[in-house]
Amino acid sequence: MRRLAGKTALITGAARGIGCHFAQTYASEGARVAIADIDIERARRVATDIGDAAIAIEMDVTSQDSIDAAVAATVNAFDGIDILINNAAVFTAAPIADITRADYQQLFEINVAGTLFTMQAVARHMIDRGKGGKIINMASQAGRRGEPLVAVYCATKAAVISLTQSAGLNLIGHGINVNAIAPGVVDGEHWDGVDAFFAKYENKAPGQKKREVGANVPFGRMGRPDDLAGMAVFLASDEADYIVAQTYNVDGGQWMS
Ligand SMILES: NC(=O)c1ccc[n+]([C@@H]2O[C@H](COP(=O)([O-])OP(=O)(O)OC[C@H]3O[C@@H](n4cnc5c(N)ncnc54)[C@H](O)[C@@H]3O)[C@@H](O)[C@H]2O)c1
Repeated sequence: MRRLAGKTALITGAARGIGCHFAQTYASEGARVAIADIDIERARRVATDIGDAAIAIEMDVTSQDSIDAAVAATVNAFDGIDILINNAAVFTAAPIADITRADYQQLFEINVAGTLFTMQAVARHMIDRGKGGKIINMASQAGRRGEPLVAVYCATKAAVISLTQSAGLNLIGHGINVNAIAPGVVDGEHWDGVDAFFAKYENKAPGQKKREVGANVPFGRMGRPDDLAGMAVFLASDEADYIVAQTYNVDGGQWMS
């Protein structure tokens, strides 16, 4: 029995990386998936590779009109939304003395407001529909503690953990479970960018930071998107009905809470 048979999911930021892998895994578990991303060309390629179970939607989580249109397009295509993964996010790094207001605003708009208002739009739909649902927010170990060069990104992910707690408590009365996943260091294009920041600020050779963080993971290597997929399927399944407002570390043993 496929664990998400008959379910429908909207996944933001699913054109690449972790969100893309989640979409492929959900489809293989029987779900229909909306691949929503600001990068529509790449989202279309992901949807085409998955086949009939997927659609691509151009979505910018910083725009309320775009959020509303993406939710409406998913509902129209699939007759409702059972699962939302708030996965779209961006990263930046700088010492406190160099943080710009523009970076701060962009990160909070995408990572925090994007998560909150996409969650709100989907929750309104789920409440009206009366069938409950599952919402999974992508947090990070960066939301568990500060880092000297990553103040703004860490703060956005701490906010995602907090929003998950409040929304989880507010929405469970409607049968909507809100939980989060806190990955550690997951290799891919996102971490290529992180590595470049550390090359700049810590004078490291390209790839050096990745090797260092991988060696420091108790499991023995950086994570891969498939390391997270089991948790993403579980939290979206009926087996997670009694799990409310939690953030799960899936990080090879880096953080304990
Ligand atoms: N990779 C890691 O090590 C790691 C660790 C902890 C948490 N996370 C979190 O997991 C999630 C996925 O990470 P990833 O590594 O796959 O990232 P990624 O950078 O590879 O993918 C992010 C996706 O979001 C999309 N996006 C960016 N801005 C958008 C916007 N305004 N509207 C819609 N889509 C937008 C991008 O086009 C991209 O496809 C993120 O929330 C990230 O913060 C990642």
